[in-house]
Amino acid sequence: MATKRLAVITGSNKGIGYGIARVLSKSFQGDVLATARDPKRGEAAIAELKTEGHEAKFFQLDITDLESIARLANYIKTEYGGLDILVNNAGIAYKSASTAPFSEQAAVSVKCNFNGTLNVCRQLFPLLRPHARVVNLSSMTSVNALHHCSNSLQQQFTDPKITMPQLEKLMDQFIKDTADGVHESNGWPSTAYGVSKIGVSVMSFILQRELDQQGKEDIVVNACCPGYVDTDMTSHKGPKTIDQGADTPAYLALLPPDITTPRGEYVTERKVEPWI
Ligand SMILES: NC(=O)c1ccc[n+]([C@@H]2O[C@H](COP(=O)([O-])OP(=O)(O)OC[C@H]3O[C@@H](n4cnc5c(N)ncnc54)[C@H](OP(=O)(O)O)[C@@H]3O)[C@@H](O)[C@H]2O)c1
Repeated sequence: MATKRLAVITGSNKGIGYGIARVLSKSFQGDVLATARDPKRGEAAIAELKTEGHEAKFFQLDITDLESIARLANYIKTEYGGLDILVNNAGIAYKSASTAPFSEQAAVSVKCNFNGTLNVCRQLFPLLRPHARVVNLSSMTSVNALHHCSNSLQQQFTDPKITMPQLEKLMDQFIKDTADGVHESNGWPSTAYGVSKIGVSVMSFILQRELDQQGKEDIVVNACCPGYVDTDMTSHKGPKTIDQGADTPAYLALLPPDITTPRGEYVTERKVEPWI
């Protein structure tokens, strides 16, 4: 079986994910698999990378589709036998002008950003090799959203012993409370994206703890904020270029073996930030 090293990036047909694919195809000693939910957009990105002198392979991946994730896991297992870098970049955000009901925004945002990312981790983590690096794209919005949660929710989200089932239950509760029109009275902030990204940050800390408890050799998971970046998601209002936005995620993806920090942290501008 081939033992070539492999990096996988989700949602890499545009924006920060494209920028991360560009950095890794230059700096990572191995193959880069740039994934996208739409094959045409994904293949176009690979072709664009090629015109810039970068080599990447394409594989279709919709993080909200369990079968799509399973196909990717199977491909990695068969073709590479393991995985060395996983960048969970794919995500969505409703525009502030969106007229979609808040309950719909909550359900769709959490399903993609939180559950989608968690499902990718669940199916690909068994393939992580020793010294693998996992980067989850969270957001400074997760910290702001946390500050706007009730004291009780803040305590639960910052409990160092919180488990994944407890976190999933909280995310489900948010969706239910928005559907019942009681999310504000139950202490939730009115940001679907922000709450989904609280889930991404806390998930990252739990995943690190779980891997350590399993005795996995030097596998590091970090959450990060790329900064405010000029992409479709921000309607091109962010001041950072996609290369600048890709800097912290790529830095975390390329952390050297046996580092002690950052490890299971929330990172901005290559620096560990307190999570509250
Ligand atoms: N831009 C910022 O200032 C900023 C700040 C903080 C955090 N972030 C985070 O950084 C990440 C990248 O953001 P961005 O600004 O580059 O956004 P973007 O330009 O909108 O790109 C998002 C990428 O995710 C993909 N995607 C969305 N849903 C998907 C799904 N279900 N399965 C697979 N791929 C999916 C999109 O694919 P399609 O092209 O098919 O839609 C696209 O490739 C996101 O997680 C975002 O929350 C961004």
